[in-house]
Amino acid sequence: MPDRTDSPKKLYIETVGCQMNVLDSELVVGSLRSEGYVLTDDISQADTILYNTCSVRQHAEDKIYSALGRIRKLKEVKPHVSIGVLGCMAQKDQNQILRRAPHVDVVIGPGQLMRVSELLAKAKAEKAPQMAVSLPRSGGSRDEVTASFAEYDPMREPAMRPSSFQAFVRIMMGCDKFCTYCIVPSVRGPEQSRPPEVILAEARQLADQGVKEITLLGQTVNSYKYRQPDGRTTRLSDLLMGLHEIEGLRRIKFITNFPNDMTDDLLQAIRDLPRISRYLHVPAQSGCDEMLKRMKRLYTVALYDDMMARIRETVPDAAVTSDFIVGFCGETEESFQRSIALIERSRFKNSFIFKYSPRQGTKADLLYNDDVPEEVKKRRNNDMLSVQNAICLEDNREFLGKTVEVLVEGPSKSAARKGNGSGEVTQLTGRTTCDRIVVFDGHERLQGEFIPVTVEDASAVTLFGRVVTVDSTAPLA
Ligand code: SAH
Ligand code: SF4
Ligand code: F3S
Repeated sequence: MPDRTDSPKKLYIETVGCQMNVLDSELVVGSLRSEGYVLTDDISQADTILYNTCSVRQHAEDKIYSALGRIRKLKEVKPHVSIGVLGCMAQKDQNQILRRAPHVDVVIGPGQLMRVSELLAKAKAEKAPQMAVSLPRSGGSRDEVTASFAEYDPMREPAMRPSSFQAFVRIMMGCDKFCTYCIVPSVRGPEQSRPPEVILAEARQLADQGVKEITLLGQTVNSYKYRQPDGRTTRLSDLLMGLHEIEGLRRIKFITNFPNDMTDDLLQAIRDLPRISRYLHVPAQSGCDEMLKRMKRLYTVALYDDMMARIRETVPDAAVTSDFIVGFCGETEESFQRSIALIERSRFKNSFIFKYSPRQGTKADLLYNDDVPEEVKKRRNNDMLSVQNAICLEDNREFLGKTVEVLVEGPSKSAARKGNGSGEVTQLTGRTTCDRIVVFDGHERLQGEFIPVTVEDASAVTLFGRVVTVDSTAPLA
């Protein structure tokens, strides 16, 4: 611990966006804590307030700008409080953030997160805002741009993880797909796969710390490819085989997959390795070729259908989930119906549905008109949700009477709200290997355990069950 004469700095952090951001926040907090910061969840007590931001849709940005607006007053009353904007919106909006919110002290893109502590100190010492962002995609050679999105995966600190037995592991950074609607390749930089030995070492360290489930992260995680100096290439399937050997790791997940890269070697690895989660998130975005072409998704509906058939054949017990964008530029009612038909054919376990939100700096924003009215986007969103929900319910009902293995995550939201969760029997929640949420009554000490649960009821989003005990007539464990 550093020598401290003053009281510890209290840190408050809010995170929006995808799992990459959740991991980045964990790592930033971990490194700040090692410098003497302590976490608080009360913003009024904090003397450092950080926002880890997302730019994927307008709504995500609006949320942060209004939060920044709200704390302007706080900064007037307590000028010693440091305010930081980290992550994707910092990279996208840069100086614009300081113009719109001059009370912000640091603006730090996702490729510069190792500088958070240094820049907070510098802003304070120089009484001037500090900014650290990476190069734009066209701001230099590929190597220069890549280097400016520096890897940020410092030592993992167990106390910082949301749960002691689950952890994210970044296996690649950035994205090179450049789907026309998407801001991610600009704000997260070029695709870079981390060396397998580094990933394996991190996973081993996590397992030694008691982690039982890891989720590998990448924008297109199944595009993972690492070329060794001797010319050999490690693919995701090879990496999974290595991770599967690590003692203590009981479940390995990976998100998000790109349809074109769902190769047979990967599907066979999932089939052959029991500890790989039976869960594949492979966003389709649309079920209409015309839209896919405009989105530059690089596949056709026929390719997606073929991929689904290969998944069903090789890993029939896998649950597949998808993302869809409704109301993309030029989406007609007919194109929309093709997306609905794809959902019906594919029987996704779940679909995340988004209304198209134009992003400045993307190809779609430059080339196409955002010509689907907001009410139509809303209606399509609702229509799609109800089709997907009906499938969710039907598929969940198939589980009635079956016994599933559940990794117990902790008290359910409603149990936590009621103030339970202080020992004794309470309502618990966990997930199956195919990522289905299961709710059941049990002892809190079951948290972090893999246990059999018999499903007795099902809604579209949840399975409700009973813990299987050795003597099934005995009361609940
Ligand atoms: N890398 C992942 C997704 C990253 S963004 C992938 O390729 O699948 C998460 C989801 O947000 C996307 O799958 C897409 O459905 C949605 N999304 C991205 N940009 C969007 C935009 N401009 N408007 C609405 N939704 C968007
Ligand atoms: Fe965005 Fe497409 Fe890359 Fe996903 S694959 S992050 S949607 S550009
Ligand atoms: Fe958002 Fe950045 Fe993730 S834009 S979705 S936080 S990669």
